[in-house]
Amino acid sequence: MRAPWESRRAGDAQPHRRSIPPEYFEERYAASADPWRLAERWYEQRKYALTLASLPRPRYASCYEPACSIGELTLRLAERCDRLLAVDATAAAVATAAARTAHLPHVRVERAALPDDLPDQTFDLVVLSEFLYYFALPDLERVVEGVVDRLRPGGHLVCVHHRSASAERWDGFNTHQAVVEKAGLARLAHHDDVEFVLDVLEAP
Ligand SMILES: C[S@@+](CC[C@H](N)C(=O)[O-])C[C@H]1O[C@@H](n2cnc3c(N)ncnc32)[C@H](O)[C@@H]1O
Repeated sequence: MRAPWESRRAGDAQPHRRSIPPEYFEERYAASADPWRLAERWYEQRKYALTLASLPRPRYASCYEPACSIGELTLRLAERCDRLLAVDATAAAVATAAARTAHLPHVRVERAALPDDLPDQTFDLVVLSEFLYYFALPDLERVVEGVVDRLRPGGHLVCVHHRSASAERWDGFNTHQAVVEKAGLARLAHHDDVEFVLDVLEAP
């Protein structure tokens, strides 16, 4: 018997024609402090655990986490990094993540909207979690290009996104295909289950 996700085919969902605008996220945060219930749902807890378990090294000198939302993954990554830059485009998310990590001097939380506001520094770990499927393809490719340019030699790019079992929307299944193609990095790990897809890529 075929698993539900085996019905998916490369390119079976079309990317957004335009990236989801900032107002969409501002409205979500105006309605709820944790719009995706990142702090509550078992889906998130299981995915965070697998994401952390998939990191090939026990520690990283410098990590970059765009779209950090309220800082759930940030708090977990902070335990594995000497320095961590977490950013989000939405002011409410930045305020919450900054407050939740205020006791951690090695964590910096800033407001930044990708692909325009990429940092002027390099990292040995970049984590893109539940973020890339909001972009139209040209913006997604700019984000991927931007973070690959900022990876130090041997650095790791980790992507993890919700996937749909049906070919109805631009989701983790298709965004990861685009990432792997655009990044041109060696793939160290690929996890694919009914709920999410996770890839670990390594810079030369
Ligand atoms: C589903 S949440 C991310 C969850 C978080 N990465 C995690 O795994 O816990 C999506 C986040 O992306 C942020 N976002 C959307 N577009 C963005 C952009 N262009 N640049 C930076 N952040 C963006 C939103 O403000 C929102 O906080």
